[in-house]
Amino acid sequence: MWSELRGLKDEIDFGTPPRDGSPVTLDIDDVTVTVPAGSSIMLAAAKAGRAIPKLCATDMLEPFGSCRVCLVEIEGRGGFPASCTTPVVEGMKVKTSKTALVQRVDRRAEKLGAQR
Ligand code: FES
Repeated sequence: MWSELRGLKDEIDFGTPPRDGSPVTLDIDDVTVTVPAGSSIMLAAAKAGRAIPKLCATDMLEPFGSCRVCLVEIEGRGGFPASCTTPVVEGMKVKTSKTALVQRVDRRAEKLGAQR
């Protein structure tokens, strides 16, 4: 039983199920990665070694995007889409760390801390 559990610990959960499309190349935090078309940004990020935090996503289920923990920034697009429900696009540039959203939250937290 323990050996099975140890095996599970070593498995990587890519966050969304794998796809079989043609290769798509994109940049995630300046790391170039190629994944099958139809893959999520979350899966591509995991393959690029840039794991994105997640609560409701697993590679055993189709993504449904309910927790909003996995938000990312995409160059040339407004807002902060959920990486688990957003498919990759050829040439896409994605930022997962220190996004404008995170910087905004950091500034707000600093202000709240200064008010105490
Ligand atoms: S992990 Fe929950 S919305 Fe993406």
